Amino acid sequence: MKDDPKDLDQLLKETFTNEFRSGYVNAKGVTMTDLYPNIADSIENLKIWDDDVWVCSFPKSGTTWTQEMVWCISHNLDFKGAEVNLTTRFPFLESSARVDNAALIEKFPELANHEFVHDSVKFVEDLPRPRFIKTHLPFQLLPRDLREGRTQAKIVYVCRNPKDVCISFYHHTKHFAFRGDFEQFCRLFLGDKVPYCPFWNHIFGFWNKRNDSSYNILFLKYEDMKSDLISVIQKTAKFLKNAKLFSEELNQLLDHLSFENMKKNPAVNHKSMFEFTKQYLGASGEAEFIRRGQVNQWKTVMSPNILAQFDEWISKNLKTSDFSFESPVKPNIQYIEQFHNSR
Ligand code: A3P
Repeated sequence: MKDDPKDLDQLLKETFTNEFRSGYVNAKGVTMTDLYPNIADSIENLKIWDDDVWVCSFPKSGTTWTQEMVWCISHNLDFKGAEVNLTTRFPFLESSARVDNAALIEKFPELANHEFVHDSVKFVEDLPRPRFIKTHLPFQLLPRDLREGRTQAKIVYVCRNPKDVCISFYHHTKHFAFRGDFEQFCRLFLGDKVPYCPFWNHIFGFWNKRNDSSYNILFLKYEDMKSDLISVIQKTAKFLKNAKLFSEELNQLLDHLSFENMKKNPAVNHKSMFEFTKQYLGASGEAEFIRRGQVNQWKTVMSPNILAQFDEWISKNLKTSDFSFESPVKPNIQYIEQFHNSR
């Protein structure tokens, strides 16, 4: 049964806040935190350079993995340089909209110059060129010059199956902002209330522009990275540098980007960010950013009821576009029932 948007607004308010994030706004149809309007104008007017490289995605779609691939290819596999934290090499444009920095500094004055508490748009503005920039903003909220195709800047977009995105997003946010259960998170996700939703608007915004000659967009899928990372690397190298990686370099990069190596690499596994949220935002538990890294996790996690709602929502939205994910795999209902019964 479909939720009433008003009920979902209430649910969002009750479950998805913390001391430093009070609520949400609707920005051009997109759910954003109520801190986003503070930086919306400076994002809209951000100067874009032709040599900018952007990684854009809906959260939890393999952004970090894609950023590391893009950065390493662009820097001729400078693994020494890649020891610098990814958040410095490839910062997150709108990270200032996640928590109220002023309130945080008021409570913890020692954070005044902390790398996670800066003005993120200014930080991006001042980056040395060529800049490498991450954003989760959907197409309609991108800086004006990028959105209007007035630049040669490159955009690498990565998407992932929404069921796995939803699971990954739930695990991510339950660490520091979301206090509800998984079923409630799914309802918010399907009702377009989770930050950066609507999900399909995000994907289609970039998908529909990928062949438009006013833009330089490379459109990737997490599932393809999992099944054939070599092809994705070569495609990305061609897009970024009109180059190809040869076997020794390719093997080094594959090794660097493997799930196991990224999971233990402090420059990309965001451990320091999670420690920060634990210390200052009251987060609890042992969360991991690079968590499972699997395709089709939903088969063992989503109840038949939630799955049916996702399937209906997916097929309804895919009918409106020529976009498709990998052919859907039928859920193993017996396995799911066993999983839920054994908890
Ligand atoms: P899970 O939570 O499903 O494990 P983002 O960077 O957009 O927030 O996406 C995070 C997701 O990408 C997490 O998914 C994470 O484990 C996965 N991921 C990160 N690095 C990966 C890698 N090298 N291989 C496979 N998945 C990876």
